[in-house]
Amino acid sequence: MCGIIGYTGDKQAQPIILDCMRKLEYRGYDSCGIAVSSKGITLYKDAGRVEALVKVIPRITGSIGIGHTRWATHGSPNRINAHPHLDCSGKIAVVHNGVIMNYQKLKKKLTIEGHKFRSETDTEVIPHLIEKYFQGDIVEAVEKTLSDLEGSYAIIAMVDGESRLIAARKDSPMVIGMGDRSNYIASDVPALLDYTNRVIYLDDGDIAVVDPGKVVIKRDNVEVKRDEQKILWSVAEAQKGGYEHFMLKEIHEQPRVIRNTVGEYAGNGEQSIKLPAKVSSVLFLACGTSHNAAMVGKYIFEEILNIPAHVELASEFNYYRRTPDYDMAIGISQSGETADTIRAMKKIKPTGCYTLSITNVVGSTASRIANQTLYTRAGPEISVASTKTFTAQLVVLYLLAATSPKLDTNHSTHLMAGLRQLPSKVQQILDEKAPIIDCAEYLKNQNNVFFIGRGINLPVALEGALKLKETSYIHAEGLAAGEIKHHTLAVLNADTPVIAPIGHDNTYEAMLTSIKEIRARGVPVIALAEEGNEVVEDLADRVLFTPAVDPLFSPVTNAVILQLLAYYTSKARGCPIDFPRNLAKSVTVE
Ligand code: AGP
Repeated sequence: MCGIIGYTGDKQAQPIILDCMRKLEYRGYDSCGIAVSSKGITLYKDAGRVEALVKVIPRITGSIGIGHTRWATHGSPNRINAHPHLDCSGKIAVVHNGVIMNYQKLKKKLTIEGHKFRSETDTEVIPHLIEKYFQGDIVEAVEKTLSDLEGSYAIIAMVDGESRLIAARKDSPMVIGMGDRSNYIASDVPALLDYTNRVIYLDDGDIAVVDPGKVVIKRDNVEVKRDEQKILWSVAEAQKGGYEHFMLKEIHEQPRVIRNTVGEYAGNGEQSIKLPAKVSSVLFLACGTSHNAAMVGKYIFEEILNIPAHVELASEFNYYRRTPDYDMAIGISQSGETADTIRAMKKIKPTGCYTLSITNVVGSTASRIANQTLYTRAGPEISVASTKTFTAQLVVLYLLAATSPKLDTNHSTHLMAGLRQLPSKVQQILDEKAPIIDCAEYLKNQNNVFFIGRGINLPVALEGALKLKETSYIHAEGLAAGEIKHHTLAVLNADTPVIAPIGHDNTYEAMLTSIKEIRARGVPVIALAEEGNEVVEDLADRVLFTPAVDPLFSPVTNAVILQLLAYYTSKARGCPIDFPRNLAKSVTVE
């Protein structure tokens, strides 16, 4: 989604802002712009990538400015709709992430009052409102403006002739970076890693007045204190490190990510898992890949801990009339900022249930809503397609079970041993990619691919389809293997390969039956099975072998194979793997 950046300090603003905008690209965008203030506001913006903008803009002098990467919601991605937006006088510039729900009403009123609008965006009402309320004090004008707005926002406002930026947030992420005679504002931390690792996360309702030398945060016109946090991510972690794409690098980081996440909770790490003593029902809330992890979580809770668990798509849960009763709700979100997941967590919390968030981003909104947060130790994930954070989420879910007092010592020792073996099993897959690459060469020419799974590997089938679809643009569908005979067999043929991650558990025989039913109709099947399985080798057209693991952990090994398959298929098709069209890394609007 949109990325915003602000800089005020003793250096030239333009190169810093453009550099940070490049770092925000991974969030997904279709137009971008920059405004720098120095005896007048100079503004450049256009549809397309930051690199294209860099080529056409001249050097602008000035040590205060704002930048924006826009993911279009209101109005198509073109120059006029791109941010920053100005007021009528051209002295106030604003960048915004979020959605202003009542913008049409405000626009109508402002138009009657004489304000001239240029764009179709909801954002443009903000600089005009600030202009309307501005009587020499920008902070006061922004405060009044915010009280008129309904919806979500992270905004930065800049007024010509001042060295301070005004930032405010409601339901949209924003972080202040604390530098040396320079301060920064950004949508998220990776944008700032080159400049500072000291950050302050704003809370909803906060207004920050950011000067080169100080940051003052106010709430209801009273100054408040927010703790500074130190970011542990390194600059190198947010770079490609010799890999062609972030997605490939992040897939390859998984052995280390698993080891670090296990170590965090079960080694010498700093975090521990402290769940309430009595939990007899659990609700998982998540979207996209995190929702697939939540589905694995349901199996873990029900199979290992014998605790009934339910999984909801956060975007649907938000519209249920009744808010159900659960002892514990677990929100899973890589970014911790997904608008639907945040809203769902806010909806369930007042029912009195214990809320837990599993997220990769320290200080994210999800972590601040929840009673307890379990951080995945995946490091920054830049590719839009989640890979290492998915396996890290699974590891945290396994750890929840393995460390539960409900398990006897033998059982938890067995689980911990399985978890500790996972990095080497994943490494084995990464070291033997040739059959996967060969399979991708076959898949690259397909238009429709189906993924089937059962039990704990059903979410893996869904994840395999999600990953292939989002990165390669091939139509891919995941479904329960048992369902194909109820509908999907009708559309299967020689040109619709079916990919089947097999679990070597109680679903094994049923998966073989499904594969036979599919093969009997001349449909090609690519199976994922444990190394040495000759039965599957005879049955399927192709087999991608996985190292042997306890079936409970097969979602990790199977998922890594399907991630690689998606990656190499997308590469063979020449797709922009890290930044798929129309998608955003962090979906901060509904
Ligand atoms: C994953 O590959 C997708 N890009 C997407 O489905 C993602 O998982 C979803 O938007 C949820 O994001 P979150 O984990 O940050 O909440």
